[in-house]
Amino acid sequence: MVNFEEIVLTADNLVKQYGTFFAVKNISIQLKKGKSLAILGPNGAGKSTTLKMIYATTAITTGHVEIKGIDVETNPREAKRHIGVVMQDDLLDTSLNVMENMVAHAILFDIPWKLAKKKAERLLKFVGLLNYQKKEIYELSGGMRRRLVLARALVNNPELIILDEPTTGLDIQSRHVFWNKLEQLKEKGVSILITSHYGEEIERLADDVMIINHGEKIVSGPTKLLPAQQGYGNIEETYLGLTGYTKEHEEIEQTLS
Ligand SMILES: Nc1ncnc2c1ncn2[C@@H]1O[C@H](COP(=O)(O)OP(=O)(O)O)[C@@H](O)[C@H]1O
Ligand SMILES: [Mg+2]
Repeated sequence: MVNFEEIVLTADNLVKQYGTFFAVKNISIQLKKGKSLAILGPNGAGKSTTLKMIYATTAITTGHVEIKGIDVETNPREAKRHIGVVMQDDLLDTSLNVMENMVAHAILFDIPWKLAKKKAERLLKFVGLLNYQKKEIYELSGGMRRRLVLARALVNNPELIILDEPTTGLDIQSRHVFWNKLEQLKEKGVSILITSHYGEEIERLADDVMIINHGEKIVSGPTKLLPAQQGYGNIEETYLGLTGYTKEHEEIEQTLS
């Protein structure tokens, strides 16, 4: 039985400082099993930096992160066993073909070669790439590359997947295929932490949303309720309104008229 009350991720008061500049200021997140949270914010808001602190690829200035009760700072390797990551850049190995990329990633998790190949086949099938297993990376479309990165992120059966703008730049069909896969994972009890620029993506995938700007949380709440609570019609309008877009937009329009 999936225990939907189990807390998979806790991030307390995360701060990231580069010199005198604060990229992230006091961001806190709690994510339960099978739940999804989207972080929405303009470029430079601190979304990627927040995710990188959570999956232990950048140092935490102050604050604390636990994945399933495991401290990511003191025990990053153990914490990462529970996480799958889809980063903003693919970071696929272009010297390896599709299957080899999958197997190479599995080996990082100490999965024996034979089992790795089996898992890879199952996951490539899940993302619709089984027939492409011998293809080189450059032969894949943008949407296929993203699906391969998703399949690769699932190789260690993660309970939490972290996705940084996974569908940016994809055509609308590819985006829908990708969303469909994430929905299937969520139904299986996988928790999802995602950053996005797309209101539609967030409305479809995220139970909760946090809007950030300049490293700070502006507002957060259930995706279905937040727009009305803030006096807007949907997530995109809420985001644009709360990050000051409307004012700038009006100024531009005035200049142009
Ligand atoms: N390694 C770094 N050194 C200095 N500043 C950085 C570094 N990485 C990111 N930043 C700055 O931190 C801020 C947040 O960046 P980022 O988390 O990538 O934003 P987002 O993902 O929301 O676009 C930006 O102003 C960016 O320029
Ligand atoms: Mg980013």
